[in-house]
Amino acid sequence: MGGRALPVPGANVKRMQRIAVVPGSFDPVTLGHLDVIERAAGLFDQLHVLVVHNPAKSALLPLVERVALIQQAVRESGLPDTITVASWSVGLLVDYCTDVGASVLVKGIRSQVDVAYETPMAIVNRNLAGVETVFMLPDPAHAHVSSSLVRQVAALGGDVSPYVPPAVASFLQGSKV
Ligand code: PNS
Repeated sequence: MGGRALPVPGANVKRMQRIAVVPGSFDPVTLGHLDVIERAAGLFDQLHVLVVHNPAKSALLPLVERVALIQQAVRESGLPDTITVASWSVGLLVDYCTDVGASVLVKGIRSQVDVAYETPMAIVNRNLAGVETVFMLPDPAHAHVSSSLVRQVAALGGDVSPYVPPAVASFLQGSKV
């Protein structure tokens, strides 16, 4: 039968790239962050992990070090090369989203405290630029892990390796913070 091939529905439709941003202080990046980054990378075509200067917090690590540690952790964990790591210290987070064409922010939510902290920011970011926020539940194995807990354990000489990627554990142990 030499009939014409039937058109495949949607075959000619060019889909927009789905681009998302995972913002945070990442001071330092933890296994909880990495879990969210890995799962978010599976949902979007491009994922930007953005280290944001948060003036409300006094930082342990400089922005450039936090970026380098995330890059190393992403590489060592074999995460996809659709992940870009960058930093942002001037202007609104949604300005970065507009610059890179991202329409979604992804945030990990461990507790009701996180929901209360994140909800107003999600509403403001949508009002400012139409950027939606997607909340992602953590893997229960990491639900108790936070950067502040890691900083405290490291400062008191404890072992942080159960909570952070190997790159971060060696960095913190080497720098004796
Ligand atoms: O890891 P953190 O410290 O909880 O991350 C908070 C962060 C950096 C994502 C938040 O402070 C933020 O979004 N800062 C960007 C500043 C901004 O755009 N503010 C206005 C809209 S909320």
